[in-house]
This record gives sequence, structure tokens and C-alpha cells, in this order.
Amino acid sequence: MSEHDELIKSLDLPAKVALLTGATTFTLAPEPSIGLRELRLSDGPTGVRGLRFHGGATVALFPNATLLAAAWSEATAYEVGTLLAEEAMAQHIHVVLGPTINLHRSPLGGRLFEQYSEDPLLTGQIAAAYVRGMQDRGVAACLKHLVANESETDRNTVDSVVDEATLRELYLLPFEIAASAWSIMAAYNDVNGQAATENVHVNNEVVKDEWGWDGLLMSDWFATKTAGPAANGGLDLVMPGPGGPWGDALVAAVRAGEVDEATVDDHLARLLRLATRTGALGPEKDYGTYPAPDSPERREQLTRLAAQGMTVLTNETGALPLAEGQTVALIGRHAVQTVCMGGGSAQVRPPHQVSIAEGLTARLGGDRVTVLDGVPMRSRPVPARDGFLVDPDTGAAGIAVTVLDADGAVVETRHEDDATSMVGLDDQLPRPAAAVRLRGRITRAGRVQLGTIGVGSWSVTVGDHSFAYDLSVSGGNMGEEILSPPNHTEVVEVAEGAVIDATATLAEGRGPAGQLFTGVGLFGLIAQAADRDAREVIDEAVRAAAAADVAVVVVGLTEEQETESVDKSTLHLPGAQDALVEAVAGAARKTIVVVNAATPVVMPWRLRVDGILWAGLPGQEGGHAVAAALLGDIEPAGRLVTTFPDEDGKTPAWNVTPSDGKLEYAEGTYIGYRGHFAGHAPAPAFWLGHGLGYGTWEYADARVITGDSPGVTVTITNTGKRASREVVQVYFRPAERDQPVRLVGWEGATVGAGESARVIVGTDRRMWRRWNTAAGRWNTLGTGGDLLIARGLGDIRATLPLRPEA
Ligand code: BGC
Repeated sequence: MSEHDELIKSLDLPAKVALLTGATTFTLAPEPSIGLRELRLSDGPTGVRGLRFHGGATVALFPNATLLAAAWSEATAYEVGTLLAEEAMAQHIHVVLGPTINLHRSPLGGRLFEQYSEDPLLTGQIAAAYVRGMQDRGVAACLKHLVANESETDRNTVDSVVDEATLRELYLLPFEIAASAWSIMAAYNDVNGQAATENVHVNNEVVKDEWGWDGLLMSDWFATKTAGPAANGGLDLVMPGPGGPWGDALVAAVRAGEVDEATVDDHLARLLRLATRTGALGPEKDYGTYPAPDSPERREQLTRLAAQGMTVLTNETGALPLAEGQTVALIGRHAVQTVCMGGGSAQVRPPHQVSIAEGLTARLGGDRVTVLDGVPMRSRPVPARDGFLVDPDTGAAGIAVTVLDADGAVVETRHEDDATSMVGLDDQLPRPAAAVRLRGRITRAGRVQLGTIGVGSWSVTVGDHSFAYDLSVSGGNMGEEILSPPNHTEVVEVAEGAVIDATATLAEGRGPAGQLFTGVGLFGLIAQAADRDAREVIDEAVRAAAAADVAVVVVGLTEEQETESVDKSTLHLPGAQDALVEAVAGAARKTIVVVNAATPVVMPWRLRVDGILWAGLPGQEGGHAVAAALLGDIEPAGRLVTTFPDEDGKTPAWNVTPSDGKLEYAEGTYIGYRGHFAGHAPAPAFWLGHGLGYGTWEYADARVITGDSPGVTVTITNTGKRASREVVQVYFRPAERDQPVRLVGWEGATVGAGESARVIVGTDRRMWRRWNTAAGRWNTLGTGGDLLIARGLGDIRATLPLRPEA
């Protein structure tokens, strides 16, 4: 029985089924006969992009998930949930597609920047707080992606092979902890041989039946392959629409007896429950008004959220925080082109992205900061930016776009200020596109790198030059073509005012489930100054570093590595960035390295620099946040949410490439710090939980509090010179030899200089159980072990034995 039985009964089968596929890319159809209004979804979790995949509204860009999680604070996660709810309400959005709570299994995973941590408890508790914050405001969260979706290679076809205990104890645990979410998204991959969208065991037996979860399970975009098996396998809603594998095929499956009509009714009941919870059914809600993305209020919130998660990895000589009055040589491509977000569906269109050069110069004044561009770090040039191209018709920064049909007639003209255009996906063109023409006037003369982005047959002219070439991606999958489109560039000498005029004839593409798409793609123009020789750049950096009191080198990754749809192949910094750091460190009086990346990188120079600040992907106020953290205006009180290995391959789980279509999670529950601690991989460079902040700490008088799930109390004293936030972490090392060490609880405390606090840390009872596969139930871990109080497992401050009866 559901509260909406009467409404459901009033619809015939085709009408019910029609509601179970999206109406557009991000909306669900209204049904006026039952009072159901349009339900609107938007991607998250770094901002609420709105109903369009590309080119939508200007919205706030939040720090990325690992940076937010590095605060190790449920209050922070709750605040993020409320702020994202406000961003959603401002756009009349009912469901925000996030948080992403897959785990950091291998550091190669391309989407780790969107996920919180390698630890299931930390991930689950942060997610649960975020969900509460969002849903307390009446906006639904959507946990994604259920389940075993830890890497991107062959993501539409890969079969993740995970034993039941590992699934329960590790990968399902964050979903279990955050199961108050009103919706969940089923992943692209298979789980143990069955598509996630059809996975009877995970979706029906575990999530809906065992946990009693009453929310709506939607598919990842284009992931649904079948009608009957998916409807019977617990999937409630196919996304996106219109079209897709349900519709008439599901009606036929019901009429043929393959699917019970009661199953369809249950899917619809869940959809109507979501609509009621979010205000799309029942009384119309007041959406309210909220601070604009560039309002002082949002800017303060986003600066603070970013800075407080930044993590001091080393501070050997006390060079951090930077002293006032010093002169700074600020060096690096990431200093001038700070990477504020990752790539893929988490991208949004922010009002601005403050670079570290802008932020530090604003904080210290131009006379104290010398900014030097660094070595290039991209192999794929980005679309034209900073006014390099202007629309030849209007002079506005960006490009002119003409969408053409098969007869060469104009379907639509557009101006795109970010030099890219999405065609045929969320623009509802009156006729299908067959070609797209992009034009931009070049505002800077000289040696320029020019080119195009997107799948198709291109013909390009600029001045006297003309080029023709075909661009495609291997496999020809439409989703991947949009998320990492191919490009081609040429370096040419151009006069100021020359126009690049490029036309692509569109190619056919396939969706993740093999669907045929025509007239769809992401297209763009590239135009930028050609790169200088790396040697020249490094020599210049060395001279500037030697002349300043302190050199701040900013290095990192880009959306080429930290993105949806592709994995990394190495953790080494791209380009000659390591050489740049080494050269500067050899010449400067003091060298601070800022790492502008969300996930682990190898730092061969880490013992030769004075300090390292890990800055994540810091969102639209990134440069201001880094300046505040470097100067200590806001304490970078972050603790790592994932373990940083010392070298490629030196992790408990590394490989992300399926073999014969299967990716074996052979390391079981020993991922990240758990595996390093057990000796399955060498000691890492930095452990999960590591982070120095700007305090120093003494721990005393640690005691166990006995109970079902034991806790600890401990006195911490801030022996440093300023107030600081400590995160007391408690790990359990079970006596059972086949069980890994695990984080069981933590508590944050802000303590003044020279002061002490008695901290009580409770532990989560779900960390004191193990899955008994033979019996199909949980057993309690009851044979004793040790509680470790640690600042990351590289710095254990107390070991408290637990007797079996404790
Ligand atoms: C991603 C999801 C996202 C969806 C809609 C998919 O490619 O895997 O996380 O929510 O697209 O943009």
C-alpha cells in the first residue's frame, strides 16, 4: 500500500509507464490528471548546474568533494547540503544528482575528485550530513552510483567482480549510512555479472528489502539496457528521456506477464513519493530567493569552505603560514590558470574562477608578488578563453555558432562565451543538426595555436591557411565524445583580427547501451598563445625565485586527469612540473609548493621543499582561498581523505583496466590505508588522516569507554602559537587476522594556543561487524584488538588494548 494508491489506480498502464522515463535530459513529465507537476533534476555535487548540460545559468561553483570532505566535519557537510539546496531552490530544481559516494579504490580513478574518500565510514557520514542539509530544505539528494563504480575505464560495459563481504563491508556501506537520501542512481557497470540497473540482489534484496529504503532508484544517463529485467531488477526510473528502452516495451512486458503490474505500481509509488517530498506533488512550495552566485555572502562561504579543507602536508621549517611583509615569487601555470573544478557532468558555469595569482596579489598587493607563468601541463588544449577570440558579428568575447541541417539551411544561431557549444542534446532543435559552423575573430597577433574540438569532418580556414581533417574517438561512444572530445590544432602566424572559420560535418554516435544518435556533439574552437620552451620558462622561474623571500610554486593536475569517463595512467604530474619545482627549490631561500589537484600525485621533491599545501580543486573563489590558507587568515585545517602513495603502483589496488570485461576487486576490503597498514603495499608518502594544520598537539590520558561500540576519551593540548582545529581519529585493529584496521570514529575540536580539551570520540557500531557469507548475515567482531588514536596511521599517539569482553 502506498499513500498514492488512488492516484496510481486512476492511470492506465501506458500512462503509468510513460511517467517512468524522463521527459527530457533533466526533467520528468507532469501528469495534470493526478496533480503531478514537472519534476526537475540537476547535476551536482560541485554546484547545481540547472536543466542544461552545457551553457545554462550562471551558478555558484563549490570546492570539489575531496576538498570539502578534508574538513572531516559533519557540520561542514551539512552546510554544503543546505547551500546546494538553496542553489537548487533558486532554479526550481527538485533533485540534485549527488553526492558521489563510490570509494577511492585505486588512485587512478578519473572521478575520485567527485567522491569523498577511500574510507567507507568517512564517506558515509559526510554524505549523510550533506543529505540531511539538503533534504531539510526539501530538495532531494541522489546517492550515486550504486555500486562498485570506482573507475571509468570501459565504464559502460565493465563487470566489477566483488565478493559479498567486500560489497557489504566496504562499497555498500556509504549507501547504507546515507540511506536517508530520497533517491539513488544505478551505475553504468555490471556488478558480479548483472547490470547495476537490473541487479536484483543489490537493488531489491539489499537496498529496498533489507534496508527498507523507500526512495526512487533512477538509472545513470543512458545506462538502462532492457525493459523487463530492469523493471524487475529494482530500477524505478529510466533517465534521460524522451525515448529509451521502457515505454511500449515495458507495457508489452507487463501484458506478456514478464513484469507484474504491481511492480510498475511500486516504481510509480516511489516516484510520487519523491514528488511529494520535493514539492512537485501536493501543495506548491515557495521556492524563495537566495544570494546570487557572486554575492558577498556566497563568496565568503565558498572561500571559507575551500580554505578550511586545504591540507598542510609538510611544514619542515615553519615557513607556513607565510609571514606578512615577505616578497613572493608566485610561479606556475596553475597559479595563472588555477583549476577550480574537475571535468564531466560535475562541471558548472560559475560567475568567475579566481586564480591564485589574482587571489594572492589581491591579498598581498602587486608590489610584493611577482607572478610567473609556468610550464604547460595540458596535452589537450582548452577552448579559447580570456577574450582571445571574439564573436566576429558582435565583438563580444566568445564565438559565433551556426547549426545547419542536412540541406545546409540554418537551424539556429548562437553566441557562446566559453567558445564551446553543445548541439542536439538539451537544446531541443526544431530539426536535427547535420553540421555546425564556428567562427571567432583572433584578438592577438603572432604565433598562435589554433584548432577545433569535437567529433566530425572538419574544414577550417584562418587568413591564408586552410586545413581539413576528421576527428573521432575510439569506440565512438557518444557520452565519451561529449565528455572528452577529440581535438586538432596547428600553430600558425596570424595577424590581429584574422577570423578562424571552422565547419564540422557531424558523425553518428552510439549511446552507452548501444543507442544510435545523430546530430549530437560538443564543439569548440581553440586559440591561445603558442607555448614557450620549458627550459626558458624554468630559467626565468629560477631567477625570480632567487630574488624573492619565498617562492610559491603551484603545480597540479587538470580536467584531463580528474574527469569523468577516463582514468589516469600515472600519478606523476604532467609536463615538466617536477623539474620546475626541483629547479626553484634549488635556487629559492624558501620554497612552498601548492598542489592544485583533488587526488594523490607523486611528489619526488617532497623532502626538498619547505612546505606543501594541498589545495584541491577549490571552486570559484579558489585563489582567495589559497591566499587565506597560505597567510593563515583561515587555518588550512584539512586532513587527507585518501592515502598518497610514494610512487606509481605502490598501492593495495592499482589496476583499473578490465581483463575480459571484468575488473576483479581482488584486494577485498584492504583498500587504501587498510592495505598499506597490513603490508600489502609499502608505506605511503602520506596516510589518510594526515594533515598538520597550523597547530602542534600533545595527547594524554587516553581511555576506552566501554559499550556496544566502544569509544575513547583523550586530552589534547595545543602546544602551538595559535588556535587550531584538531581531528582526533580512532582506528580499530581487530585481533582477527583476516580483518583490516579501520577508522571507527573521529571528532574535531578547536582549541586555543596553550589550551587543552578533553575530547570524546564515539565509534560507529557498523564498523564492529563482519559479513558472514555462508550464513548470509552480520556477525559482531568480538574477539578484541586495539584501538589506535592517531593523526593518520603514520602518527599513532595511543594504543588502547580491547579485551574480548570489552
Ligand atoms: C554521470 C552521472 C550524471 C549524469 C547526468 C552521467 O554521465 O555518470 O553522475 O549525474 O551523467 O549528467
